[in-house]
Amino acid sequence: MNSVPLIDIQSVTYTYPARHKSRLEKPALRAVSLRVEQGEYLAVLGKNGSGKSTLARHCNALLLPDSGRVLVNGIDTREASSRRAIRESVGIIFQNPDNQIIATVVEDDVAWALTVRGLPRDTIRERVEQALRAVSIEHLRRQPPHKLSGGQRQRLAIAGVLALRPQCIIADEATSMLDPLSRQEIVALLHRLNRELGLTIIHVTHLLEEVVSAHRLMIMQQGEVVLESTPSDLFAQPERLHALGLAIPEPLELAERLRTAGVPIAREAITIEAIVQELAG
Ligand SMILES: Nc1ncnc2c1ncn2[C@@H]1O[C@H](COP(=O)(O)OP(=O)(O)O)[C@@H](O)[C@H]1O
Ligand SMILES: [Mg+2]
Repeated sequence: MNSVPLIDIQSVTYTYPARHKSRLEKPALRAVSLRVEQGEYLAVLGKNGSGKSTLARHCNALLLPDSGRVLVNGIDTREASSRRAIRESVGIIFQNPDNQIIATVVEDDVAWALTVRGLPRDTIRERVEQALRAVSIEHLRRQPPHKLSGGQRQRLAIAGVLALRPQCIIADEATSMLDPLSRQEIVALLHRLNRELGLTIIHVTHLLEEVVSAHRLMIMQQGEVVLESTPSDLFAQPERLHALGLAIPEPLELAERLRTAGVPIAREAITIEAIVQELAG
């Protein structure tokens, strides 16, 4: 049993530098504490501007706290000498994959960070291969990224992070530019990486329907953690969701009504299609 959490956020407060001297910025994070254990699938929910991305960026030293501290594997993110190791342990996937794609050929893109680090050729080849397979785009290896669909480009961005052999992947609104089908596929991929590779996943989103299968979820509001729960406990409190400005997605509401009426609908059925399949099966 490892007693050191993977990520340990201790009472972190952070305010972005003021853009105008005359205006005082409000803190984006206010005394936020959170422990993320190895192997967990944690969802971070909250409306736009609630501080989710700011929190995500603190988890791999892209931002450093004004007060409080963040430990990754017990190491303070302020320690400059550990920054590279921390960024390899905790990778972030952003909303727009195009901001993370660098090379003009898929496999070179996955290899890029490894090449920069000067890893041996064979190691690079092996890791690129594994990363492409893990996200199921090995058949696209010689394609230019711009020929890939949005969902495939987001997979490519994930492969680039996987090639660094992280312990944790933070997906920060990583599905928000995708169509509903690609969105579901990326969510399914994150769950598979969690299950099969034991990767810790922090899934940041404002979409409740994406987090039904998370192990744990936390909700942010105005820079504070206002609720920690499990999906099923939270979905059982619709008033709470409404109060937090998070609407229950229609399919979930439908599934809940069916369950109340005695029709067993699996928790994973979070789309109308999936519910129809449950009913048919
Ligand atoms: N680069 C930035 N400079 C100044 N303020 C920012 C910056 N990024 C975010 N903020 C502010 O910090 C707060 C939290 O933003 P953010 O962490 O991006 O929230 P979320 O990801 O939940 O939408 C918001 O009030 C936002 O306006
Ligand atoms: Mg954000």
